[in-house]
Amino acid sequence: MESQTLLTQDFKAVCALSAIPVLGARVVRSSAGEIALFRTADDQVFALLDRCPHKGGPLSQGIVHDRSVTCPLHAWKIDLASGTAQAPDHGCTRRFAVRVHGDTVHLSLTAEQPE
Ligand code: FES
Repeated sequence: MESQTLLTQDFKAVCALSAIPVLGARVVRSSAGEIALFRTADDQVFALLDRCPHKGGPLSQGIVHDRSVTCPLHAWKIDLASGTAQAPDHGCTRRFAVRVHGDTVHLSLTAEQPE
Protein backbone atom coordinates (compact mmCIF):
# COMPACT_ATOMS: atom_id res chain seq x y z
CA MET A 1 0.00 0.00 0.00
CA GLU A 2 2.77 2.40 0.95
CA SER A 3 4.70 1.68 -2.27
CA GLN A 4 1.53 2.35 -4.27
CA THR A 5 1.26 5.75 -2.60
CA LEU A 6 4.87 6.52 -3.45
CA LEU A 7 4.33 5.47 -7.05
CA THR A 8 1.26 7.67 -7.34
CA GLN A 9 3.10 10.64 -5.89
CA ASP A 10 5.86 10.17 -8.44
CA PHE A 11 3.54 10.93 -11.36
CA LYS A 12 3.07 14.56 -12.34
CA ALA A 13 0.33 15.98 -14.56
CA VAL A 14 2.02 17.30 -17.70
CA CYS A 15 -0.72 18.06 -20.23
CA ALA A 16 -4.21 17.25 -21.42
CA LEU A 17 -4.68 14.17 -23.58
CA SER A 18 -6.45 16.41 -26.09
CA ALA A 19 -3.25 18.49 -26.34
CA ILE A 20 -1.48 15.55 -28.01
CA PRO A 21 -2.57 15.10 -31.63
CA VAL A 22 -3.87 11.64 -32.55
CA LEU A 23 -1.01 9.80 -34.35
CA GLY A 24 1.26 12.64 -33.28
CA ALA A 25 3.38 13.85 -30.41
CA ARG A 26 3.91 16.67 -27.96
CA VAL A 27 7.22 17.51 -26.29
CA VAL A 28 7.53 18.27 -22.60
CA ARG A 29 10.73 19.52 -20.99
CA SER A 30 11.97 17.76 -17.88
CA SER A 31 15.08 17.38 -15.76
CA ALA A 32 15.72 14.19 -17.79
CA GLY A 33 15.66 16.15 -21.07
CA GLU A 34 12.99 16.66 -23.69
CA ILE A 35 10.39 13.90 -23.57
CA ALA A 36 8.07 13.11 -26.47
CA LEU A 37 4.53 12.04 -25.57
CA PHE A 38 3.01 9.99 -28.39
CA ARG A 39 -0.69 9.28 -28.89
CA THR A 40 -1.87 6.31 -30.91
CA ALA A 41 -5.08 6.02 -32.92
CA ASP A 42 -6.73 4.24 -29.98
CA ASP A 43 -5.66 6.92 -27.48
CA GLN A 44 -2.80 5.05 -25.85
CA VAL A 45 -0.02 7.38 -24.72
CA PHE A 46 3.68 6.53 -24.61
CA ALA A 47 6.65 8.60 -23.49
CA LEU A 48 10.16 8.37 -24.91
CA LEU A 49 13.21 10.57 -24.68
CA ASP A 50 12.99 12.74 -27.81
CA ARG A 51 16.24 11.35 -29.23
CA CYS A 52 16.51 8.60 -31.77
CA PRO A 53 18.95 5.85 -30.73
CA HIS A 54 20.58 6.13 -34.18
CA LYS A 55 21.88 9.70 -34.41
CA GLY A 56 19.67 11.63 -32.04
CA GLY A 57 16.88 12.62 -34.43
CA PRO A 58 13.75 14.21 -32.92
CA LEU A 59 11.33 11.30 -32.64
CA SER A 60 8.51 13.73 -31.82
CA GLN A 61 8.64 14.85 -35.46
CA GLY A 62 8.36 11.32 -36.79
CA ILE A 63 5.32 9.49 -38.13
CA VAL A 64 3.31 7.49 -35.59
CA HIS A 65 1.76 4.25 -36.85
CA ASP A 66 0.28 1.48 -34.74
CA ARG A 67 2.57 1.39 -31.67
CA SER A 68 5.71 2.66 -33.43
CA VAL A 69 7.23 5.91 -34.61
CA THR A 70 9.38 6.30 -37.72
CA CYS A 71 12.29 8.68 -37.14
CA PRO A 72 12.18 11.68 -39.51
CA LEU A 73 15.93 11.54 -40.25
CA HIS A 74 16.73 8.05 -41.51
CA ALA A 75 13.42 6.19 -41.04
CA TRP A 76 14.37 3.84 -38.23
CA LYS A 77 11.23 2.44 -36.63
CA ILE A 78 11.12 2.73 -32.84
CA ASP A 79 8.68 0.74 -30.71
CA LEU A 80 6.75 3.19 -28.53
CA ALA A 81 6.30 0.79 -25.62
CA SER A 82 9.90 -0.39 -25.30
CA GLY A 83 11.89 2.37 -27.02
CA THR A 84 13.80 -0.22 -29.02
CA ALA A 85 14.64 0.01 -32.71
CA GLN A 86 13.01 -2.52 -35.00
CA ALA A 87 15.39 -5.08 -36.55
CA PRO A 88 17.65 -5.03 -38.47
CA ASP A 89 18.52 -1.78 -36.64
CA HIS A 90 19.79 -1.87 -33.06
CA GLY A 91 19.44 0.58 -30.22
CA CYS A 92 17.09 1.82 -27.58
CA THR A 93 15.93 5.20 -26.39
CA ARG A 94 14.86 5.81 -22.81
CA ARG A 95 11.18 5.30 -22.04
CA PHE A 96 9.13 6.80 -19.24
CA ALA A 97 5.99 5.69 -17.46
CA VAL A 98 2.74 7.44 -18.39
CA ARG A 99 -0.76 7.25 -16.94
CA VAL A 100 -3.88 8.84 -18.38
CA HIS A 101 -6.69 9.77 -16.00
CA GLY A 102 -9.65 11.30 -17.76
CA ASP A 103 -8.17 13.94 -20.04
CA THR A 104 -4.98 14.41 -18.02
CA VAL A 105 -1.64 12.81 -18.87
CA HIS A 106 0.66 12.04 -15.94
CA LEU A 107 4.35 11.33 -16.41
CA SER A 108 6.94 9.73 -14.13
CA LEU A 109 10.64 10.25 -14.62
CA THR A 110 11.50 7.28 -12.41
CA ALA A 111 8.82 4.57 -12.63
CA GLU A 112 9.24 1.73 -15.13
CA GLN A 113 6.60 1.54 -17.84
CA PRO A 114 5.30 -2.01 -18.37
CA GLU A 115 5.54 -3.03 -22.04
S1 FES B 1 18.62 9.67 -36.36
FE1 FES B 1 16.80 8.48 -36.32
S2 FES B 1 17.03 7.10 -37.93
FE2 FES B 1 18.86 8.23 -37.96
